[in-house]
Amino acid sequence: MTTIIRSGSLVTAEDKFEADILIDGGKILAVGLDFNVPDAEVVDASGKLVMPGGVDPHTHFDLPMFGTISSDDHYTGHKAAAFGGTTTVIDFVSLDFPTFAESVNAWHTKAEKAAIDYSFHMNLTRMDDALAGEIPSLVGMGITTLKVFTAYNNVLRLNDWAIFKALRIAREHGMLVMLHAENGDVIETLAAEALAAGHTSPEWHARTRPGWGAVEATMRAAAMAAQAEAPVYVVHMNMAGEVDMLEYARERGVPVMGETCPQYLFFTEEDLARLDGAKWICSPPMRTHEDNTRLWQGLAEGTLQTVGTDHCPFFFDGTRPIVYEGSEIAIPGKELGSDDFTKIPNGLPGVQDRLPILWSFGVRAGHITANEFVALNCTNPARIFGLYPQKGALLPGSDADIVIWDPERRVKYGVAHSHQRTDYNLYEGWELTGYPEKVFLRGELIVDGEEWLGKRGGGRFLKRRPGAPLL
Ligand code: URP
Ligand code: ZN
Ligand code: ZN
Repeated sequence: MTTIIRSGSLVTAEDKFEADILIDGGKILAVGLDFNVPDAEVVDASGKLVMPGGVDPHTHFDLPMFGTISSDDHYTGHKAAAFGGTTTVIDFVSLDFPTFAESVNAWHTKAEKAAIDYSFHMNLTRMDDALAGEIPSLVGMGITTLKVFTAYNNVLRLNDWAIFKALRIAREHGMLVMLHAENGDVIETLAAEALAAGHTSPEWHARTRPGWGAVEATMRAAAMAAQAEAPVYVVHMNMAGEVDMLEYARERGVPVMGETCPQYLFFTEEDLARLDGAKWICSPPMRTHEDNTRLWQGLAEGTLQTVGTDHCPFFFDGTRPIVYEGSEIAIPGKELGSDDFTKIPNGLPGVQDRLPILWSFGVRAGHITANEFVALNCTNPARIFGLYPQKGALLPGSDADIVIWDPERRVKYGVAHSHQRTDYNLYEGWELTGYPEKVFLRGELIVDGEEWLGKRGGGRFLKRRPGAPLL
């Protein structure tokens, strides 16, 4: 079927202009004016903005953790993403089996219900010669990225020997190492001391994960990147000092890039001290207003290249069911840590919230321009992760993943508005101006206002290409 999106204002990472988009076979055929195709379905976008579908480079669907499981799966999380204007997600595969292939296959099985397009990163949480030898095989599976951790001692953490080895292999095969930057030893010591002193409430999560751990881990990774001559992408950056370290390294030609997430732009440690502070528990934790400000600046200046969500939702009270698509569901959540902050599942909802929140409180608030909004949320993640120009672009030949954005629509946002499968929303009651009106995935209309037209199994796995550019 041929579709024409007519008379919209196209917003790309570089430009804004009036044009029509001609779509056929799931692809953008042409961008121009006055297409005359008899029988084409015409979608009127006058008065609206037209942008590429969002690419969220950081999600955790159906992830077993802390004795429970993240509460969105690869269907509910995808549906929520689509309502927020995101049409591609990249999820992290846990290294749960002896080989990468087995671990990846398990994730493919989970993702059979996908409703938007998706790809995978591999969590590299062990290292030995056999596993090192298998890393290049991931490229053949379409996985070109490895996440390493300097925290979560004895569970996920790698030492510097292993990280350096991963960097060198990644360099040789055009892959990219992603870093979770915190100091696992400091956290282990401080958390044990806090519990021994009887400190069990959520704010101790932040107090026992000091920001300096993130700063020095970022610098150490940048130094290793320089020595391995391999790129590093620092995920969920949360500290002003991390931005400074990245800037320092980039000024010296070190190939480092960074991502932050909306939660680190708006919230602080003080939110953890609320009665419902467990809602804000994730790792790394929220920091201070000064950190929020520096992260905004890092985005606007280009020191940071992307905004991901680190969507890893849990119920606030997993003993009380919610209704999702007509059925009751309750999944154990934050209440698991009601008498011990170290047992609160780490993670937050956000996959739907990213674009609407960043439009109203990023673009409209003057922190970033509309072009930067598209670059950070759509185009840069697609480029860095080897999906461009199939994704993240409004170019002839690109997948017709398109958001028609109503810049005037006002929404009082919150859990009632969200399709994320959890019982709370971080942005409850926030007044938004600007919201997705229609969302297309490969030319198919999957969200029309409040109506869900997407389907379980309608998403496709995206094999990513190695050798993606450094931004
Ligand atoms: O608290 C978080 N961020 N949970 C997800 C896992 C991670 O480290 O990204
Ligand atoms: Zn992480
Ligand atoms: Zn994460």
